[in-house]
Amino acid sequence: MCGIVGYIGKRDAAPILMEGLHRLEYRGYDSAGLAVARNDKLQVIKTKGKVRDLERILPERIKGTTGIAHTRWATHGEPSDANAHPHTDATGRFAIVHNGIIENAGSLRAKLQASGVVFRSETDSEVIAHLLATFPTDKLEDSLRAVLKLVTGTYGIAVLDAQRPDSIVIARNGSPVVIGIGDHEMFVASDPAALVRHTQSVVHLDDGELAVVRADGYATSTLDGGATAKTPLTITWSDEAFDKGEFAHYMRKEIAEQPEAIRRTLSGRLEPRFQTTHIGGLEMAARELLEVKRIKILGCGSAFIAGSLGAHLIEQLARVPANAEPASEFRYRNPVIEQDTLYIAVSQSGETFDTLAAVQEVKRKGGRVLGIVNVVGSSIARECARGIYLHAGPEIAVVSTKTFTCTVVAFALLAIHLGRLKDLSTAQGARLLTALQALPDQVATILNQEARIATLARTFARYENAYFVGRAACYPIAMEGALKLKEISYLHAEAYPASELKHGPLALISPQTPTVVIMPRDDLYAKNLSTIEEIRARSGPTFVITQPGDPLPMNVDATIEVPKSEPALDPLLVSIPLQLLAYHVALARDRNIDQPRNLAKSVTVE
Ligand code: AGP
Repeated sequence: MCGIVGYIGKRDAAPILMEGLHRLEYRGYDSAGLAVARNDKLQVIKTKGKVRDLERILPERIKGTTGIAHTRWATHGEPSDANAHPHTDATGRFAIVHNGIIENAGSLRAKLQASGVVFRSETDSEVIAHLLATFPTDKLEDSLRAVLKLVTGTYGIAVLDAQRPDSIVIARNGSPVVIGIGDHEMFVASDPAALVRHTQSVVHLDDGELAVVRADGYATSTLDGGATAKTPLTITWSDEAFDKGEFAHYMRKEIAEQPEAIRRTLSGRLEPRFQTTHIGGLEMAARELLEVKRIKILGCGSAFIAGSLGAHLIEQLARVPANAEPASEFRYRNPVIEQDTLYIAVSQSGETFDTLAAVQEVKRKGGRVLGIVNVVGSSIARECARGIYLHAGPEIAVVSTKTFTCTVVAFALLAIHLGRLKDLSTAQGARLLTALQALPDQVATILNQEARIATLARTFARYENAYFVGRAACYPIAMEGALKLKEISYLHAEAYPASELKHGPLALISPQTPTVVIMPRDDLYAKNLSTIEEIRARSGPTFVITQPGDPLPMNVDATIEVPKSEPALDPLLVSIPLQLLAYHVALARDRNIDQPRNLAKSVTVE
């Protein structure tokens, strides 16, 4: 999704902007560009394609110490040179880069055209550049304030004025922008990943805020001009954490990082003395937690799926009714917000627009909401104010892997905490804590089976359609397995509860349609054996993910075994082979694994 970078200081801006754009590549984009101010003029270079394409056309000696840059993910208008940002007004005095959507761009455009303005792109963003030219003031921030009063929609925006290169002005409404504080130099970005190499001290703008950023400082204010006070936050992620290291893909690196990432999610949160867990960020006393009658979990994509498994964990261990719903659906259906329900928003990036809007809807109606978020200081984390940080480290690949497992671990911590306030016995609590501590090593042993899974993946890569089935808490695992596979291999994959197979999907089982059956040796094992019989009877290839035990009573195409944990945590372990399966199928099909087509890491628009 679109990315913004800005620099103001003593150094040449262009190399810093280019490096920032490279850092944002993981988010998904289709064009890139930059504008640098020099001698009362703007040098604007932009192109359809990748940051390396921009690099190729960048004049060697592009000078100037103030600049803004952008990676665009097309919403209004196809990917093209003209639609790439920055956009400028007719005189070339103002340049803007914009993330978000200007909803009234059509009517603003018509008015500007009626007054003689000629547009050069099909984007909604270009109106902002032309409107700035209709409000030229001594202060760029005042011009931008006047423009933003006219626009409706969402924006994270950075503006440059050729005549005043001593500042960059930024503003936010629904799309993130942060300021990076350097030593007599300042950075601007839509994602801290772009500036972490230069500084770890950042200031996040809130919705409705604007900032004037100069080389030696910044001033934040509301859109009406009232000053606001901000406290800088320290980013703990190191620059190296953003590198691929020895791995061919970020996805593979992030799969391998899971044992360490899970250890970090668990760190300091186990209380063996009381057979429970301690979650510092929860900020809910036992009495408040005991008053919770229901739990509603909101998220999108893998975050929603991890939440679905989280709901199983909460119901199983704490006996509190819980369910998960896609945040994108929830926010539009005028949901009933109940005082005795606890809402939990799940998001890796903390910037997913639909999830953020759902949180705001819950809060507007007086509901309590916790966040389970990976990125510290992100919009959802700040909006929720309390919750659980994953501490999984940066996730760069578009597909979630380590943050999926760490989210499930965070739910397990919460479910045990709640359960121990209720009916979960000390013995059960102790067993679960031991099982949690064993998870990192167990994940590592599953990763050791990679060679076998890769061989199996080469067979799988020949199919065009696949089913993933599981029962109860393993149904979300089937959903996650199917989502991973379709995201990066483009193989069509569907997930069903195994019990639903005979209610329709069985019609499509054939030698050309394999089924992955997810079946730990739990109470439903025998039922899953019947499911396999149904598939085999239609000559469907069958791949089984299970645990060590008696051999299966029938022939299947392949079996992968994962170690046993506590029953509540078994689904987490069976999800690991599915990540490797998706990765190796995508590899065999020669796909762009880290940046799959049409997808963005963080979906910051509706
Ligand atoms: C997962 O592999 C995805 N690429 C996607 O479904 C993702 O989980 C979703 O967009 C939510 O993102 P978030 O966790 O950053 O909110």
